[in-house]
Amino acid sequence: MIGVFDSGHGGLTVLRALHAGLPDKDFTYLGDHAAAPYGNRTPEEVYQLTLAGVERLFALGCPLVVLACNTASAIALRRLQQSWLPHAHPDKRVLGVLVPMVEAITGQPWMADVPAGSMAGEPRTIGIFATRGTVESEAYPREIGKRAPEVRVVQQACPDLVRLIEQDAPAGEIRAAVQTYADALMAKMDGVPPQAVMLGCTHYPLVSDAFVDALPAGVEVLCQPTLTTRSLGHYLERHPEFDLPGTGRVTFHTTGDAERVTRLATRFFGRPAQFRTLTTAGEKVAAS
Ligand code: DGL
Repeated sequence: MIGVFDSGHGGLTVLRALHAGLPDKDFTYLGDHAAAPYGNRTPEEVYQLTLAGVERLFALGCPLVVLACNTASAIALRRLQQSWLPHAHPDKRVLGVLVPMVEAITGQPWMADVPAGSMAGEPRTIGIFATRGTVESEAYPREIGKRAPEVRVVQQACPDLVRLIEQDAPAGEIRAAVQTYADALMAKMDGVPPQAVMLGCTHYPLVSDAFVDALPAGVEVLCQPTLTTRSLGHYLERHPEFDLPGTGRVTFHTTGDAERVTRLATRFFGRPAQFRTLTTAGEKVAAS
């Protein structure tokens, strides 16, 4: 079983692609709805909450966990991998959604310690839309800069967009917000369009059309769920010890209200997803 963790139900956009792209794998999803959203939380809060979520997925029998949340991947993943996993769970692994994006943007496979400037190519400009936490972590510019210093990375936080998408706000309201963020990004670039933009938040693929329309024609919009699926497939090939046989089974857990989350989930997962509440003791309470 592969664990998939997110602050809430946004990670279902990633799980949906993982399930479609790796149909014989079993997945267990955990959304930390009780503490969501993570996007405006402090780095220490995001780290502690992510650690607790990963522990829960390990306890549910997942030796490999994917953080399907940009904020958690950008803020907590490196610290988990370097200072916690090696002594707490040396036989388990945690991956994130940041690496597949960085690999796609730089065209380079991920390597832990890349000498700065060693992979310079054509100068390019990439825009990144993300939560405030992800933007302030500087994780994307830092990791892209190490591998491809010729890439100029311009970030734009979209602090209100998760809330609007979660509330299923009218399309016009969402489009107006996206236009504001796209205009702000373009203003930082003096009106010169980037070669591509990355939607660095789990929720944004649901409104990718609004981003395409708000940006100048020809700007490529990179799709994180697809890239994450491809990257996980390659990882499992390289690490057969985590490539456990499955039957395509998916189970859904939340730290929040299972009934409410089950109602919201369909829009993100593309079909009904029956959530169960995970209590502190790891006990599951079915949605009524
Ligand atoms: N899942 C988060 C992310 O991808 C968005 C929602 C939140 O702020 O918790 O950054």
